[in-house]
Amino acid sequence: MPTIYARGQKGRKALALPELSRPEEELLRKIPEGMRRREPPRLPEVSQPELIRHYTALSRLNYGVDTGFYPLGSCTMKYNPKLHEDLARLPGFTGLHPLLPEDEVQGALAVLWELSEYLKGIAGMPGITLEPAAGAHGELTGMFLIKRYFEDHGELERRRKILLPDSAHGTNPASAAMAGFQVVSIPSDRRGMVDLEALKRNLDETVAGIMLTVPNTLGIFEEDILTVTELVHSAGGLCYFDGANLNAFLGRARPGDMGADIFHFNLHKTFSTPHGGGGPGAGPLAVSEPLIPYLPVPEIVKEGEKFRLNFDKPKSIGRVHPYFGNFLVMVKALAYILTLGDAGMAEVSAAAVLAANYLRVRLKGTYKLPYDRLCKHEFVLSGEGLAEGIRTLDIAKRLIDYGFHPPTIYFPLIVREALMIEPTETEPKEVLDAFVEAMLKIAEEARTNPALLKEAPHHAPVRRLDEARAVREPVLREPFSQVF
Ligand SMILES: Cc1ncc(COP(=O)(O)O)c(C=O)c1O
Repeated sequence: MPTIYARGQKGRKALALPELSRPEEELLRKIPEGMRRREPPRLPEVSQPELIRHYTALSRLNYGVDTGFYPLGSCTMKYNPKLHEDLARLPGFTGLHPLLPEDEVQGALAVLWELSEYLKGIAGMPGITLEPAAGAHGELTGMFLIKRYFEDHGELERRRKILLPDSAHGTNPASAAMAGFQVVSIPSDRRGMVDLEALKRNLDETVAGIMLTVPNTLGIFEEDILTVTELVHSAGGLCYFDGANLNAFLGRARPGDMGADIFHFNLHKTFSTPHGGGGPGAGPLAVSEPLIPYLPVPEIVKEGEKFRLNFDKPKSIGRVHPYFGNFLVMVKALAYILTLGDAGMAEVSAAAVLAANYLRVRLKGTYKLPYDRLCKHEFVLSGEGLAEGIRTLDIAKRLIDYGFHPPTIYFPLIVREALMIEPTETEPKEVLDAFVEAMLKIAEEARTNPALLKEAPHHAPVRRLDEARAVREPVLREPFSQVF
C-alpha cells in the first residue's frame, strides 16, 4: 500500500484553519528567533476524502479483538467493554494536572483509594501500590521490595537467589536478574507443576524467594501451592506470585490465602484495558503485612472523608513511576470491578476456564497435548508430529487464512513446537467451534497438501515474512528524502 505522501497533489488541503486572531508578525515575535521554523513542515497534501480513505484502508490491514478471535496464550488480547474507555475519557479525569494540590484532586484520589481497597480484597492481602506501569515493572518493583526487606533484616548479603520454576513467564527471570538476584531454575514434574523434590534440594539460607506464575504458563494451577509457599517460608524466603493470569481464578481464590507475600495484577489484562501494543498498562502490587513499610511513596491515606498523600515512609523503596502510575488505566479497572461485582468476577474466571477446557478437549485428539489434564485459562498444544516437515509456525500462518489471529507460538520453552491457546472469557461457543473446525482442517491439510501450510498465509495483506529480518532491521518509517 502506498504511503500517504504518494497520494494527493501539491497545494491540496484536508482542512481550513481559522483566520489568525492577531497579525502573524506579532505572533511570531513571541517565539524566540532560534526556535522558529525556517521551512514549512513537510506534511502530506491531500484532500479530506483521500485522508479518510488512506487511514481506513490502513486500519483494514490490521487485526484486533474488534475484528475477530485473538486467542494468544499468556499475553492475551481480550475484549474489554468500550464503556470503560468512555469513562476514562471524561474531561474531569483527562484534564487533571498531576501537580494539582491534594484538595483539588479529591475525586481522583478517591478513585485510586477505592481501587486499592478492591484490589486488596481480591488478593486477600493488606498492602498495595498502584504505581508500576506494567506486569514486568510490577515484578521488578517486587524484587526491589524483597531486596529492601532483607537489607532491613541484615540478610541481603547471603540471600542472593530467586528460585524460578521453568514454567514461569519469561519476564520473571529477567526481572529477578535485573534486580541483581541470581536466578535458579526449578524443573517441572511430569504433571507440569513445580517438582517439590527439586525445590527442597535448592532451599537454604541463600534463597531470597520464589517467583511463581499462577496459574503457570502451561495453564496449570499448582495443586501443591500451599506446600510450596510453606517450604519457602520455612527457609526464610518470600513468595512472589505473578498474577497476570488472574482471570483464571478471579473471585474464587485469593493469593493471600495461599501464602503469597507479593502479588502483581496486570490491570491491562484482567481488568479492562487492551493488552499489548506497548501500553499504557498498570501492574499494581499487593503485599503481605511485613512488606508494607517498603512500598513506594506516596501512599494514599483516607482520613475521615478526605484523602491525603503520605510521603513519610522512611523505609520505602521510593517512587517507581512519576506521580501515581497510569491513572486512566485505573479508572477503567475500577469501572470493570464495579460493573461486574463479586458474582460477575467469579463468572469471568468460570467462563475463561470453561472455554479453555472446551478447546483443549476438542483439539487433543488431533494435536499433541503434552500435559493432558484439566487446565485453567489456557493450555499448550504441540505442533510436533502433525505431519512430515510441518512446524508450528506453518500451522499458525495457515490460521491467518481462516481469519484467526494465531495463538502464541514457541512459548513456553518447556514444550517443543508449542502452541499456547487462551480463548478468554468473552467468546461465544460458535466462535470457539469455528476455531476448532479451522484447526482440524489445517491438520488434515498438513497431511494431504502440506504446501498450503508451508506457503501460508495466502489471503493476508502480506505473505510469509522473514521474521528474523523484520526484527533485526525494522523499517518503520519512510525517510523524507524518498518522499520529496
Ligand atoms: C503471566 C505473565 N506475567 C507477566 C507478564 C508481563 O506483563 P507486561 O507485558 O504487562 O509487562 C505477562 C504478559 O502478559 C504475563 O502473561
